[in-house]
Amino acid sequence: MHIPTILSSLGFFASISFATYTLEDDYGNTNSFFDKFDFWSQPDPSSGFVKYLDQRSARSTGLISANGGSVYIGVDNSSTTTTGRPSVRITSKKRYTKGLFILDLAHMPASTCGSWPAFWLLGSGRDPINGEIDVIEGVDRSHSNGISLHATRTCTINNSSFTGDLIASNCYDHAKGQSVDQGCGISIPDKRSYGTGFNEIGGGVYATEWTSEGINIWFFGRDIGIPSDITRGRPDPSTWGLPAARFAGDCDFDAHFNNMTMIFNIDFCASWAAGVFKRDAVCSQLADTCRDYVGQNPRAFGQTYWSINALKVYKDSADQDSDDANCDDPAACDPSLHSAKHFPSYAMRARARRDRNYLE
Ligand SMILES: *[C@@H]1O[C@H](CO)[C@@H](O)[C@H](O)[C@H]1NC(C)=O
Ligand SMILES: *[C@@H]1O[C@H](CO)[C@@H](O)[C@H](O)[C@H]1NC(C)=O
Ligand SMILES: *[C@@H]1O[C@H](CO)[C@@H](O)[C@H](O)[C@H]1NC(C)=O
Ligand SMILES: *[C@@H]1O[C@H](CO)[C@@H](O)[C@H](O)[C@H]1NC(C)=O
Repeated sequence: MHIPTILSSLGFFASISFATYTLEDDYGNTNSFFDKFDFWSQPDPSSGFVKYLDQRSARSTGLISANGGSVYIGVDNSSTTTTGRPSVRITSKKRYTKGLFILDLAHMPASTCGSWPAFWLLGSGRDPINGEIDVIEGVDRSHSNGISLHATRTCTINNSSFTGDLIASNCYDHAKGQSVDQGCGISIPDKRSYGTGFNEIGGGVYATEWTSEGINIWFFGRDIGIPSDITRGRPDPSTWGLPAARFAGDCDFDAHFNNMTMIFNIDFCASWAAGVFKRDAVCSQLADTCRDYVGQNPRAFGQTYWSINALKVYKDSADQDSDDANCDDPAACDPSLHSAKHFPSYAMRARARRDRNYLE
């Protein structure tokens, strides 16, 4: 691209988006959505109190369906269990490297004791060799979305150009001064961004833009409105203002993030949600352990489901012919070191991520 090359050499590239996005995949909102995913039906890699069902069982028990313009992904909300609550974990068959991922949700799993839902992207190979991007994630009664990246050594992010709160700046899972498997994280303090607060406004859109320069995530609540370029199918992130989260800095994103699938899942307990359950003033009063609560109270999970209006992946036209790094901008592409900041350990998140995904 001629113009960005000139401007980037003048130092404008970091602040101006030139990407022109065209539709690559529309996952639709009918039952064919599920044919584009693999269903995980083996034991949970995170050791949660969950039983992931295959596609046939999930459909016959009503845990997945599609009607009225949205796709439903839920959990069993009618039976007690001592072996794990039936649920769903699906992984897109297609892998992506860079692009713009737009997820329009009418509903997500509510802020419910015992639950641990996520929408995330995971690179190929042993996690996090090709990176992990947790776009929507929280546990128990969480009322703010915690967005994180996980990477191998030498990837840190700046605390600038986003509206959320920086939680940790080093994306390396074994960074000094951070909890093991914490990664770098930015939370959105707005309670409309997650769980029950999100559902109260009729949900909204999460847009994830992944380029060689970094990863930007915007949240648009339906109460305030979805940008018309998104609803028209011609998304233009350069018009959206500051993202809620911007992961950019001293990190070679082309080296750390590759060949990612998209995953939706709803887990229960595992060590993260179980640990928070025990410490939470409300959850801890409900039962002795997270497992007891989740196993014996199916009706608590009537609001524990995803309702997906749309999932579309767009590609930057400049990346159409090649995914090769286009490192015209030395500031974005040169992995020379800046001093990494260290933050107090963020124990709530990290406790349990260890080996969560290594089975894939
Ligand atoms: C990030 O920057 C904001 C705004 O300048 C500041 O309030 C905040 O303390 C910084 N966070 C960290 C973890 O340095
Ligand atoms: C990150 O901050 C450093 C130091 O302020 C700056 O030189 C660099 O350009 C920033 N990188 C990005 C991608 O914003
Ligand atoms: C990504 O997948 C492609 C196609 O399978 C492969 O050629 C490439 O080596 C992979 N990249 C990485 C970094 O694993
Ligand atoms: C419970 O799960 C079923 C599908 O198994 C779903 O149709 C229903 O909406 C869920 N919620 C409630 C409150 O029953």
